[in-house]
Amino acid sequence: MVFWFVTTRSETTRDRSSGGTSQAPTSRSAREARISCNRKTWRFARRSTRPRCSKRSSAASPALTAVLSQVSKVAGSESTVLITGETGTGKELVARAIHRRSRRASRGFVAVNCAAIPRDLIASELFGHEKGAFTGALQRRLGRFELADGGTIFLDEVGELAPDTQVALLRVLQEREFERVGGQQPIRVDVRVVAATNRDLTEAVADGTFRQDLFYRLNVFPLEMPPLRARQEDITVLVEYFIDRYARKAGKTIRRVSKRTLDLLKAYPWPGNVRELQNVIERSVILSDTDEFTVDESWLSTKPTGESRRGMSSTLASHEKALIEDRAAGHCRARVRAHGSGRTTRHSTFNA
Ligand SMILES: Nc1ncnc2c1ncn2[C@@H]1O[C@H](COP(=O)(O)OP(=O)(O)OP(=O)(O)O)[C@@H](O)[C@H]1O
Ligand SMILES: [Mg+2]
Repeated sequence: MVFWFVTTRSETTRDRSSGGTSQAPTSRSAREARISCNRKTWRFARRSTRPRCSKRSSAASPALTAVLSQVSKVAGSESTVLITGETGTGKELVARAIHRRSRRASRGFVAVNCAAIPRDLIASELFGHEKGAFTGALQRRLGRFELADGGTIFLDEVGELAPDTQVALLRVLQEREFERVGGQQPIRVDVRVVAATNRDLTEAVADGTFRQDLFYRLNVFPLEMPPLRARQEDITVLVEYFIDRYARKAGKTIRRVSKRTLDLLKAYPWPGNVRELQNVIERSVILSDTDEFTVDESWLSTKPTGESRRGMSSTLASHEKALIEDRAAGHCRARVRAHGSGRTTRHSTFNA
């Protein structure tokens, strides 16, 4: 298993209204970063040669290693996957990784943000509609399930679905069959379903806001993303990765991260998880006037919310037993890719 890896997708495919499609990995960038470390600082130096891997940055946390192990095992199956975890932990990255490592990788990855589509439009968005099905339906439109035929549909924020849509979704999951809005003809699709939510769906089932039968349909292979505070070991390499990324964007050179800064970043509980860390680093890089990376300590004072702390202990417990796969072989190779640059390439410290 590879620890570091690259997520390839066009920034434009984030627009869920058009449905994203996966893309082939771009070629390795000539500009790569060599990272070396001494006791006090991390040093960054641009090199045009293959980087050597820093020993210190190769250690993935046990929690992330466990998730990646599960990802690599489930990716090749056709099973429905339910990814849970706090906001910003990388659920969507994992969904894309599963698709990329699956037999469906050459076909579409269609993301649907269930919380973002107005309730009265969701049936048409998911299943499409026939011409004249309702006022404004001027022509036939394919829904996300049809667009994802042969590929993967990613039902993000699935916990936010309204009850009537939950019923409709249940049928598709059971029968892989549906009708377009205003249509009579049953349509069959070959779609793999990956869903994600930051809600505790067992609680939602208990309080009656999420259908139990749908929960069991989705929860075939559960994957829980650990919060960043439960994988402190990953912070150093994420910091190094984001600095490199945003320094390039800003045309700046950052060579060092002070030990104090790194200690601060490691000590902070990151209620917004990787997304918050990413934002803090982007902001710091923009404001940086020197080649030493520092952060404004006042940005790290957010108190974690009750919701963001949810599931911390269960996350840790659920990862205890997971197998650790061999990641040595892929590590250097993927690290090179993680430092490659490309206009349409999104880099990630996940791999697929
Ligand atoms: N391991 C990682 N390496 C690099 N970037 C990461 C990693 N994990 C998360 N990110 C980045 O953090 C941000 C949040 O990730 P993502 O959107 O996958 O999280 P999420 O769990 O789906 O969050 P939400 O529940 O709020 O939708 C993204 O910009 C993503 O690229
Ligand atoms: Mg998400």
